[in-house]
Amino acid sequence: MSEQRVKISGVGGYLPARRVSNDELAQTLDTSDEWIVSHTGIRARHIMAADESGTDMAEQAARAALARAGVSPADLGLIVVATTTADYGGFPSNACLLQARLGAPAAAAFDLGAACTGFVYALEVARGLMLCGSGRPALVVGAEAMSRLVDWTDRNTCVLFGDGAGAAVLEVTTEPDRGILGSYLRADGTGSGFLWAGGGLRVPPPNPEPRQAHMQGRPVFNFAVKAMAEVVLHFLETLQIAPEEVRYVVPHQANIRILQAAQKRLPIAPDRFVVTIDEVANTSAASIPLALAELDRQGRLAPGDVVLTTGFGAGLTYGGNAIRW
Ligand code: ACO
Repeated sequence: MSEQRVKISGVGGYLPARRVSNDELAQTLDTSDEWIVSHTGIRARHIMAADESGTDMAEQAARAALARAGVSPADLGLIVVATTTADYGGFPSNACLLQARLGAPAAAAFDLGAACTGFVYALEVARGLMLCGSGRPALVVGAEAMSRLVDWTDRNTCVLFGDGAGAAVLEVTTEPDRGILGSYLRADGTGSGFLWAGGGLRVPPPNPEPRQAHMQGRPVFNFAVKAMAEVVLHFLETLQIAPEEVRYVVPHQANIRILQAAQKRLPIAPDRFVVTIDEVANTSAASIPLALAELDRQGRLAPGDVVLTTGFGAGLTYGGNAIRW
């Protein structure tokens, strides 16, 4: 009997309509297009409308991915939403809200929080559940409302982020040589203080921390370069993939200089690295599925392509997925 694998059968993305350029930010913040582009590679980000939510964005991306896969919501057995900016501070999860919107009564639904590595983690969790579960298709979404989490007066952080959602439909397959070949999930909790957002229940009232992102840029930068390279090297070694076989490396889009520094540590040509950060900025858990959806939209993904995702995020978390498209 052929080995069962889980393949990605459709991807979709959604960016809010409002595009905010660096020049627009510089009208109210002590920054400049020159500084932001030279330090990060970011030229613009998309920001949600006041009445828009993370679930609204997830729904748009999910509908696009389901249509691309030709899968009906009624057939889904699982919905996982990777997010750390859910609509509600506690519950219900965005995944349950999405399940109701889509009409997917057979789907288990939960959110997964691994910050910017969330989609990478969620893909592997869904894969594991599918292979030992009902075999129904699954929907994995990365959706983040980062504009609601940043302090818009802090130039150190606010210029870096954007909103968006990306989604993937997964199906069990017995097609030879197709599907998720493996994943690599890691964390280093000793770095938790480098990147955090308050607003939880750790400090009890009357002194709650505001729900805002805080970051020490340098240590995160250094961690990210090492972590992203480690993930890719892991796949090359353990799966015996030759560097020239890799069609795309799809990295978490946090900073162009992080991507370039990671690439220099790897035997893979720079043109294999997918870069979308200039127009979307850092959309956290949405960044990798958004990049996959953009590749697909441009017709650049073909069956058999080897795609390696690699990401890092608060936690600190990191990891990746090796996929034969
Ligand atoms: N505009 C103008 N000046 C700025 C801005 C800005 N938007 N932001 C910071 N600066 C200033 C700083 O105040 C500092 O000024 P000072 O020297 O007078 O104190 C100066 O620029 C240089 O600051 P550095 O920290 O040395 O700049 P660096 O080259 O490290 O770039 C950056 C900063 C872009 C944040 C970088 O460290 C970085 O990308 N780190 C990783 C960020 C990241 O990926 N975070 C993860 C995000 S969340 C996630 O993915 C889970």
